[in-house]
Amino acid sequence: MSHEVVEKNVGLLAVLIFLVVSIGGLVEIVPLFFVKSTTEPVEGLEPYSPLRLEGRDIYVREGCYVCHSQMIRPFRAETERYGHYSVAGEFVYDHPFQWGSKRTGPDLARVGGRYSDEWHRVHLINPRDVVPESVMPGYPWLAENKLDPGLIQKKMRVMNTLIAATCNGCRTYTEEEIANAPKQLEGKTELDALIAYLQGLGTAIKTRR
Ligand code: HEC
Repeated sequence: MSHEVVEKNVGLLAVLIFLVVSIGGLVEIVPLFFVKSTTEPVEGLEPYSPLRLEGRDIYVREGCYVCHSQMIRPFRAETERYGHYSVAGEFVYDHPFQWGSKRTGPDLARVGGRYSDEWHRVHLINPRDVVPESVMPGYPWLAENKLDPGLIQKKMRVMNTLIAATCNGCRTYTEEEIANAPKQLEGKTELDALIAYLQGLGTAIKTRR
């Protein structure tokens, strides 16, 4: 019996398992390369402004993703709380994306515009001043640290390379935008940048909120 041959021959079994899993994988993954909605921006989505790009780096540096996801799943419990579920085209300018999977705090995918800048300022310096039961740590140094405009142009050029390599129909930064970027960061603090980043999150798609 041919089945017996496969069962008694570990090498052959391994090769056949590998074949089956590969076909399964290809069937799932390859179509994604051709589905435009995963590689095209949603309407109205723009590359991160220089200030928001810096804010995003601070978000990563401080490990905000350790407690916050940025991915609203298409379930009623989530859409009632956070707004429209996340779609692939919202993340085309995110390198690397910040979807995350840990929710010690709420999902932040649509936090943009939910609070005032001042609320964020107070909250990020000491969360307990606005949410008494909060377990989120404070980040008071962000208000003192001035941004260093020295790297922004390089960052934007790297972003351009990544955008061009991964996205159909995305816009790259123009030379003029790159030239003007350092000026926009002058005198700004890390807190300003982080708040600008948060205030833009998820705003390309209009939600009920
Ligand atoms: C130890 C886990 C933890 C870390 C790390 C953390 N947070 Fe939070 N965050 C929370 C919790 C819990 C809440 C809910 C209570 C509150 O609002 O403070 C929260 C709430 C928030 C909210 C309000 C969300 C809403 O919809 O009400 C924002 C915005 C936020 N965090 C941003 C950040 C940013 C930016 C960072 C990184 C600088 C960060 N958090 C790091 C746990 C964390």
